[in-house]
Amino acid sequence: TRGLATRLIGQKVICYDAVNSTNLVLKDLARAGAEDGTVVVADSQGTGRGRMERAFFSPPGKGIWVSILLRPTFLPQDAPKCTLMAAVAVARAMEKFGLRAAIKWPNDIMHDGRKLVGILTEMSAEMDRVNYVVIGIGINVNIAPEDFPEELRSVATSLMQMKGEPLSRVAFLQELLRALDALYADVQRDGFASVLAAWREYAVTLGQTVRVIAPAGEEFEGVASDIDAEGALLIDTEHGQRRVLAGDVSIRPK
Ligand code: BTN
Repeated sequence: TRGLATRLIGQKVICYDAVNSTNLVLKDLARAGAEDGTVVVADSQGTGRGRMERAFFSPPGKGIWVSILLRPTFLPQDAPKCTLMAAVAVARAMEKFGLRAAIKWPNDIMHDGRKLVGILTEMSAEMDRVNYVVIGIGINVNIAPEDFPEELRSVATSLMQMKGEPLSRVAFLQELLRALDALYADVQRDGFASVLAAWREYAVTLGQTVRVIAPAGEEFEGVASDIDAEGALLIDTEHGQRRVLAGDVSIRPK
């Protein structure tokens, strides 16, 4: 981490060859008292996890599978917005490599309709105090189309495919941690307003007609118009405005 020059995030970086999941490893460290800003990164994950208990493909040598521990002063109900903050940090890092990010609400970064980056935020809180937030970020860096298992080929892509050449994983991780460090300092001082504003700049979901699928099976359609102060997506439907929170639903373009 020499030369990282961050205030907090990445002051301590723990690197592994192979782990089950960097989120699981970091949650254990968090429970054992690890400090705000601790980072766990692994070359590969055996059981990388995505949202809704889905598996996350994390092969060796080709991606950034990283988790970041925060011990924020904000309230537990603000924690889901860490996902938006992480997406903006990835977008800022991509810009340093000449790549323009397209964020699909709330947490996927897409290219050509396929997923480049996934984010899984987990939290532990007691009463109205956050004990810890673990932000897990999976970035497909140097993955060729044929490296993906068959079933992912039509839905996943990589920074290498987007840029047309391989990128340095270390250099990208450094930019990501710098961007996150700056955003987190800002959030701790002034709240999430500027994160939400930055998120809107990269959002591709806004203005789109989307179909919302709730786990209970309810489905509806409408135009995604904005996100509110809580990071919820606002959808204008025939029957008025609906508000959906991350984690509750999956959305897809109509
Ligand atoms: C999603 O797209 O549903 C979220 C994917 C999150 C993957 C990252 S990889 C690093 C961290 N460890 C995990 O097990 N998951 C996250």
